[in-house]
Amino acid sequence: MSRIFSGVQPTGDLHLGNYLGALRNWVALQHDYECIYCIVDMHAITMWQEPELLTPATREVTAGLIAAGLDPKNNVIFNQSAVPAHAELAWIFNCVARLGWLNRMTQFKDKAGKNRENASVGLYAYPNLMAADILLYKATHVPVGEDQKQHLELTRDIAQKFNNDFGVELFPLTEPLIFGEGTRVMSLRDGANKMSKSDPSENSRINMTDGPDEIARKIKKAKSDSELLPSEPKGLEGRPEAANLMGIYAALSDKTLTEVCIEFEGQQFSAFKETLTEVAVAVLGPIANEMARLVADPGYLNNVLKDGSERAKAIAEPILAEVYDAVGFLRP
Ligand code: TYM
Repeated sequence: MSRIFSGVQPTGDLHLGNYLGALRNWVALQHDYECIYCIVDMHAITMWQEPELLTPATREVTAGLIAAGLDPKNNVIFNQSAVPAHAELAWIFNCVARLGWLNRMTQFKDKAGKNRENASVGLYAYPNLMAADILLYKATHVPVGEDQKQHLELTRDIAQKFNNDFGVELFPLTEPLIFGEGTRVMSLRDGANKMSKSDPSENSRINMTDGPDEIARKIKKAKSDSELLPSEPKGLEGRPEAANLMGIYAALSDKTLTEVCIEFEGQQFSAFKETLTEVAVAVLGPIANEMARLVADPGYLNNVLKDGSERAKAIAEPILAEVYDAVGFLRP
């Protein structure tokens, strides 16, 4: 049996990287798999979150998933903290994963920065909670952007060690699903850095809630170079900003990078950026409008999450019981 699980943090605005790397693919997969999508509020608090902002951010991300095209009736959509089994399995995985494995995680190094001693223990153990998210549902496939690949390898290591240590065939070896032209969308200000919610520059990213004027302004300001656009993807080598913008265009217009190069061969950035803006507004505009409409109805979003968390619990609890039995916990 195939089952999909994936998650997104309710920290700051959803951006084009989240959309192209994850949400859009989730929408495409929803008819072929049983899908569980989680707003990972417990992951969010590994870095400081203002409590009064976390609640509306959780609703807004829920609205983003639905506005992007996920049907909350066919998919399970819920927030992580509403299903305590995530934390319970994460504890067990804290005792399965090795320090050496976590020491290799590049995201921790990036996020903790120079002041590692002052990072939260949660930020360090973050990948164990992520493995728990996935394996709590015995998910077989996890659609994510490129940046999550290392965490998914760790998830496989944890599943394998658990199965070996306890002599069971309990957890599957989960496959990542990383596909499309937008698996690693870069910052609009610097083609060497990924587009991210935590970048202090608003101009580095296009948010899913941006209106047409903001999208146009950000694309106009986006860093480019002084050469003309190449005739084939090979010509983008050493041109990270051009590669990024053409990759974004390819992803948004459902074309391959090769097709986009043929379309814009020899053109200047100014003309290309205008067409890119049109496509971005055409794709993101209706989503932003729908998000605004949904966010105005917090009762509806709360109900989606409540229903989703009940359905998630119904799948998770028997699997957690199997894990407890394997570990030897007495369940009185
Ligand atoms: P998060 O919230 O950072 O991002 C959500 C999804 O968006 C993708 N993404 C990108 N894709 C392409 N280009 C970008 N610039 C870009 N930025 C973000 C991410 O790859 C991700 O798929 N740890 C996860 C959340 C998580 C999770 C899970 C995911 C928690 N538990 C279990 C899968 C399975 C995270 O922080 O994603």
